[in-house]
Amino acid sequence: MTTTTTLTDTVRVGLVGAGRIAKVHAAAYERIARGRLVTVTDPILEAAERLGGQFGLEVAPSFASILDDDQVDAVLLATPNFLHAEQVIQALEAGKHVFCQKPIALTLPDADRVVAAAAASDRVVQFGFMLRFTPPLPQLQQRIGAGELGPLIAAQAAVFGWEPSNEWFYDPANGGGVILDTLVHFGDLVLWLFGPADHVTTEGGAYKLDGAKKYGSPDNAVVTVRHTSGVVSSMYVSWTAGRGNFTLDVYGNDGSATVDLVHSQALNLHLIDDGGTASAESGQRGWVYPDLVWDYGYSGEQQYFVDRILGREDGSKAATAAEARDALALMLAAQQSLDERRTVRLTAGDLDG
Ligand SMILES: NC(=O)c1ccc[n+]([C@@H]2O[C@H](COP(=O)([O-])OP(=O)(O)OC[C@H]3O[C@@H](n4cnc5c(N)ncnc54)[C@H](O)[C@@H]3O)[C@@H](O)[C@H]2O)c1
Repeated sequence: MTTTTTLTDTVRVGLVGAGRIAKVHAAAYERIARGRLVTVTDPILEAAERLGGQFGLEVAPSFASILDDDQVDAVLLATPNFLHAEQVIQALEAGKHVFCQKPIALTLPDADRVVAAAAASDRVVQFGFMLRFTPPLPQLQQRIGAGELGPLIAAQAAVFGWEPSNEWFYDPANGGGVILDTLVHFGDLVLWLFGPADHVTTEGGAYKLDGAKKYGSPDNAVVTVRHTSGVVSSMYVSWTAGRGNFTLDVYGNDGSATVDLVHSQALNLHLIDDGGTASAESGQRGWVYPDLVWDYGYSGEQQYFVDRILGREDGSKAATAAEARDALALMLAAQQSLDERRTVRLTAGDLDG
């Protein structure tokens, strides 16, 4: 069945999954124009009813019933990671536009099937990389692209994720651990900022959380990526730091930039001119955590999704399915490096897939 949306419509979205991030998305939809959540489903009926009651949504009996519903133009997949690939493909086959949480899949063959399905469809397919919509990161990407920092050398990030809400997050077969589940946001970010990865080296492990120890998946890791451009990205990711959100430093020949979403939520630039004179630009005033990611990132990505469906945006600001697949490939290589205690090359067929 194929649904159609004309340019003057409000996009009607079905929410699939009623867990922790679904609530964040439901709150985001209250702040955006031209799109609204109309229905929610979850195998845990009470979870769907609770969320539906809170946000005024109908409760649908199943994912299949949402796919069959002519009143639903698009689905928002807020389900465990192991379901993503199959659900995206089924939703596209049903003629729905799809917003899918990250990661795109847990294996490369599954990710490739999603890439192929997206390429064969005229529907919008978008993934939950909200950092691309979270100020000041789009501004940083533009200024790096304009060459303001000169040739780039290195980046350093500390990424603090939420402690998992469910056991499936730890299981390599269902969630993948902190690298596949959470660092994938930064996998996408560093590929977006610095280009393709050449090789990756990881250290880390299950330091604190019982679930991570049970499944032998990491709750903390340091992942170092050498990009083909020569830029080196070093990223610390943690599920146990107990605070949010992240910091990012980027260093180039002609200056550096700092993004601090833990303390100041600002882009700070330190530039060196040809004569060696330094100048600083501080964006210290502004947003207060956690409103930044909540108010801008999550609502920004949904506004963009809805406007793409309505033909008001061309999609160039969001990760393509192929880019979501590349972010997964980088995270799989990072996980493989940790498991096998060696550097994994992405360019030489080293990655298991
Ligand atoms: N972008 C972000 O910042 C961010 C943050 C947290 C989670 N996430 C992602 O969102 C997704 C969900 O995470 P969460 O924290 O909400 O997990 P969660 O476990 O709290 O919620 C998942 C929900 O999906 C439901 N579900 C399971 N199978 C289903 C099915 N077949 N159909 C419909 N619903 C089903 C579960 O019952 C549960 O209520 C994951 O992919 C996770 O990586 C993204």
